[in-house]
Amino acid sequence: MKFTDPYQNPALYDAQYWWKKNDLELWKFLAHSYKVKNVLEIGSGTGRVGISLLMDGFIYSGVELSVIFNSYFIKKINSLGMKANVYNENFESFNLKKRFDFILSAFNTFNHCLSKKSFAKMLINISKHLDIKGRFVFELFVPDPLALYRSQSLKLDLMEYTCPSTYKSIQIKESISYNHINHIINVRWYYYQSNTLINKIKFNMKAWHPETVINMIDNSPFIIEKIIGDYDGGDFNSQSKKQIFICKNDF
Ligand SMILES: C[S@@+](CC[C@H](N)C(=O)[O-])C[C@H]1O[C@@H](n2cnc3c(N)ncnc32)[C@H](O)[C@@H]1O
Repeated sequence: MKFTDPYQNPALYDAQYWWKKNDLELWKFLAHSYKVKNVLEIGSGTGRVGISLLMDGFIYSGVELSVIFNSYFIKKINSLGMKANVYNENFESFNLKKRFDFILSAFNTFNHCLSKKSFAKMLINISKHLDIKGRFVFELFVPDPLALYRSQSLKLDLMEYTCPSTYKSIQIKESISYNHINHIINVRWYYYQSNTLINKIKFNMKAWHPETVINMIDNSPFIIEKIIGDYDGGDFNSQSKKQIFICKNDF
């Protein structure tokens, strides 16, 4: 059985992340607080965040690399009788020739940006799409040394979901290997139904350490307004599992 790409199966993404709802209130709260009208989400995926923002009345656009995720999301938008622009573009190079008053990237999307060079390029690109008074909000996980420096042969329980077609319970186990020089995490997920391996996916993520991200932003067109450490809006601290940056253009 070959490893497949996680962003080629949107129905699987939605099924396995059935539980992921704990961030939605924060994105809506921030967008309302900044009296936002136009939202651009980077890495819009299957519309997990987008649908929620559309339901709250925001004018929504998305940028997404996966063609199949994009068409899946567009079908959802149409079936709900809503309107949104979802562009099939790379976050490093997109050019929509318009500005937004809120640009959001949720759920570790930028951990898919694998080098400082790409991150810097992406920040410049995003700043060209942000309105003068706009905010750019993005979320990364805080790298946990205990999780990163574990044995490569260790497969740990990650999550469980019900397969939407068979109604069978599926368990996902994860193994990783970490390169501490370039900070790339090679992630492998193994899907088991009744202890039988039925699917495998693999992908790379970069462990972005908070001090590196702060340094990248200091050398970008943005300034940091606030760093939040959880979905309740708590300040970032040494125990935080998330780093949620609120930035604005540095004019
Ligand atoms: C973890 S998912 C998050 C999706 C959605 N925002 C959510 O919260 O459910 C990351 C998304 O970023 C997309 N992505 C990864 N690299 C990208 C790139 N270079 N440009 C645009 N989108 C990208 C993936 O295809 C995927 O849909």
